[in-house]
Amino acid sequence: MSRLDSFINRMVAQRACLNFIAAQVHGPTLTEPVLELGLGNGRTYDHLRELFPNAPIFVFDRAMRANPKSAPPEDMMILGDVRDTLPAIRPRLGAGARLVHSDIGDGSRDTTEPLIRALEQALPPLLADGAYIVADQKMSVPNWHALPLPEGIAEGRYYIWQYRA
Ligand SMILES: C[S@@+](CC[C@H](N)C(=O)[O-])C[C@H]1O[C@@H](n2cnc3c(N)ncnc32)[C@H](O)[C@@H]1O
Repeated sequence: MSRLDSFINRMVAQRACLNFIAAQVHGPTLTEPVLELGLGNGRTYDHLRELFPNAPIFVFDRAMRANPKSAPPEDMMILGDVRDTLPAIRPRLGAGARLVHSDIGDGSRDTTEPLIRALEQALPPLLADGAYIVADQKMSVPNWHALPLPEGIAEGRYYIWQYRA
């Protein structure tokens, strides 16, 4: 498969999974926190704020490099390595985040693997019971239950779990 096809498949999977969760939680009515790990260009952040217009969306990245049209409000943009910044956000989350979208892989196994292992530790204390985790990388966490992917999305292309305490 060409890199172009692979990229397109990833974008399609990403959008389908986020839309699927928005349908599960009645997106426009959601007022609980959403976490976006990996702002990048801001494309998925822009989609999240369309799907969840009433939810506080906390956005994490090492640096702000997004298209200015997709820049989060300053107080919702948390800059730094997520391994340092995620634990510090807990007091701002109330009963916990309802959705985490993690799109933080950089294409290198050597750097992504340790980061994902760190997220498996850092994310659970931030979640509300019933929270959804949507991710580009496979994670393995007790009490995170894998959900079937939306129709047409190949296994392993993207991941969805629901946390049940
Ligand atoms: C694939 S891009 C995200 C793309 C984004 N979802 C979009 O739609 O434009 C991954 C982002 O994760 C960020 N990132 C990678 N490792 C990180 C870390 N340890 N802490 C914070 N941000 C990180 C990178 O800086 C990069 O902007």
